[in-house]
Amino acid sequence: MINIAQLGQKKNESTIMKKILIVSTIQFVVLAFVLIPVQVQGSTVSVNLNQTGEPISKYIYGQFIEHLGRCIYGGIWAEMLEDRKFYYPVDGQAPAWTMYKPGMRSYDGEGHPYELLTSSPWMIIGDKKAVSMMMENSYVGEHTPRITLTGNGQPAGLLQERLGILEGEKYTGRIVLAGNLQAAPIEVSLVWGGGASDRETVTIDKIGKTYTKFPLRFAAKGSTDNGRLEIVSRGKGYFMIGTVSLMPADNILGWREDTVALLKQLNSPVYRWPGGNFVSGYNWKDGIGDPDRRPPRKNPAWKGIEHNDVGIHEFMELCSEINTEAFIAVNTGQGDAKAASEEIEYVNGDPDTPMGRLRAQNGHSQPFGVKWWAIGNEMYGNWQLGHMPLEEYMKKHNSVVDTMRQVDPTFKPIAVGARGRWSEQMLTTCADHMSLISEHLYWQDRDDVISHVTQISDRIRDVAEAHRGYRKTIASLAGKDIRIAMDEWNYWYGPNEYGELGVRYFLQDGLGIAVGLHEFFRNSDIYFMANYAQTVNVIGAIKTTKTQAEFETTGLVLKLYRECFGEIPIKVSGDFKPLDVAAALSGDRDVLTVAVVNPGGKSQPITLKLSGGELTGRWQKWTFTGPNKWSYNAPGKSPQVEITPSSFTGLLGRLEAVPLSVTLYSFFLR
Ligand code: AHR
Repeated sequence: MINIAQLGQKKNESTIMKKILIVSTIQFVVLAFVLIPVQVQGSTVSVNLNQTGEPISKYIYGQFIEHLGRCIYGGIWAEMLEDRKFYYPVDGQAPAWTMYKPGMRSYDGEGHPYELLTSSPWMIIGDKKAVSMMMENSYVGEHTPRITLTGNGQPAGLLQERLGILEGEKYTGRIVLAGNLQAAPIEVSLVWGGGASDRETVTIDKIGKTYTKFPLRFAAKGSTDNGRLEIVSRGKGYFMIGTVSLMPADNILGWREDTVALLKQLNSPVYRWPGGNFVSGYNWKDGIGDPDRRPPRKNPAWKGIEHNDVGIHEFMELCSEINTEAFIAVNTGQGDAKAASEEIEYVNGDPDTPMGRLRAQNGHSQPFGVKWWAIGNEMYGNWQLGHMPLEEYMKKHNSVVDTMRQVDPTFKPIAVGARGRWSEQMLTTCADHMSLISEHLYWQDRDDVISHVTQISDRIRDVAEAHRGYRKTIASLAGKDIRIAMDEWNYWYGPNEYGELGVRYFLQDGLGIAVGLHEFFRNSDIYFMANYAQTVNVIGAIKTTKTQAEFETTGLVLKLYRECFGEIPIKVSGDFKPLDVAAALSGDRDVLTVAVVNPGGKSQPITLKLSGGELTGRWQKWTFTGPNKWSYNAPGKSPQVEITPSSFTGLLGRLEAVPLSVTLYSFFLR
């Protein structure tokens, strides 16, 4: 057999290409210089470059981060210490890492427990009775630990274990202390081993009655995932630890350098924040001002603690660092119109408005200029804090938007929707109070890969069709173009390997996410935004350990399409099941991209029939695949699923979609 792609390289490539394309379901066997055609099985994919759809909105590649599990704290945020503000009382007990068993069905049919800190991670060095929690003169939150010193020369204080420390890395932090003069010196040590020299100590020689902040700097000479921070005195009297922070020194304004590097590669144009269910119990004012003085609270919707180290300013700094737009959700559950309008004034108001002035005092004089605002989250669900009947909620939605508009008439409100009565009524009653309407979709696993992936396209298409229906029947939509923001979509099943909702993704999920993107492209007239939920650890496209970060299969797919797929969708026709094929032109129409998802177990030959344009013969392809449907990637382990790029000069010949793969082709056009 000869490879058609190697035939007649130069000459009139495009003419030859057309001929080859016509006969490319036929392979040739060379027998005594005679070419004998042999029919082979295969699929024909037809694309007509003149049959284009609405341009694909860049916002289809949006992301979502929530204050939940290890998405922000223990994920993107670089803080290494747990409970640095002493939400839990230090009581001399060993830290309780409670096992939670989630209700969700896992890929092997079992529920898998995950570990979560449910008491203070701080342990006591010396006499346990020497530590008490002081409510009076607390530095932050309800109470501050006070250590009473006996003066016997033995160390007394606190320690925290389980820190991930890397040899050669530098660490930076701060500690807030108060106490009597004789309590000094206070020694703060980073410890990476059991030997006397496996530690570095910062000595604070003088403390006083009022709380003072002291910088910390360490250079580790060993690696461990059970490092310690110790804070002790051998003096007399007492001292209080207001708060303490420790981060790798390469953090970027508090964000983890390795994770931020992956977010940059993901290159998403928009991030939804801070929730999710979290937002319906969130007071945004808790997240502004001196981070060390922001109160730690129980996460209102989830199991962990909200440290309030990340608030509006930190989120906006992350957006600027990774070059993305912010999409902020306001609290329409337990929150009200006043809090939402103050929030938008804080974010977008001039420095001479009351909230703009507060923002300037907190270090950012210019308005942040955030355009996209989610008006609440999933208010239709009885799990939502502040859930209320639809009739009541529609009034609340309109009043929140009206109040926010008085502050910023240009902002783009995104209303809570849910296909069916909720979306229909919201569109009927609130159409003048929304730019987009949100929908959410999550999927569990299915036994065979083909139905595992097609469930995604089926549901995305159903939602699109439902909304096209609303446009025909709802009078208030006349002359309006309220498109959908699918601002949460993903698989959600399997063991929690990375904390609360920290499920792992497999090759089969990467294929499904590719098919989901194809469906958004095919419905580009109605989908304006989609936010993959979520980004790090929590049902995340990226997973982290204490010291490493890695793309999941789904993250690789999102990155591949964002980087390589075209912007102007083209109609694809043919009978090529079980393949899912999407095609698009680049914005300048110089490149045709064709993406083929093969969820089947057999290799599929493909004949591409092209009309309305000519290929140059220069093309590239990227193949995303792995050994089997359960293949996955994990931080610190060699990847099982990879994207392999290759480039070609020459004729197309027969294309091939290998089993369990996404192949993205990019053909240069004349
Ligand atoms: O993404 C996880 C949760 O799923 C979100 O908080 C909520 O909006 C949805 O139900």
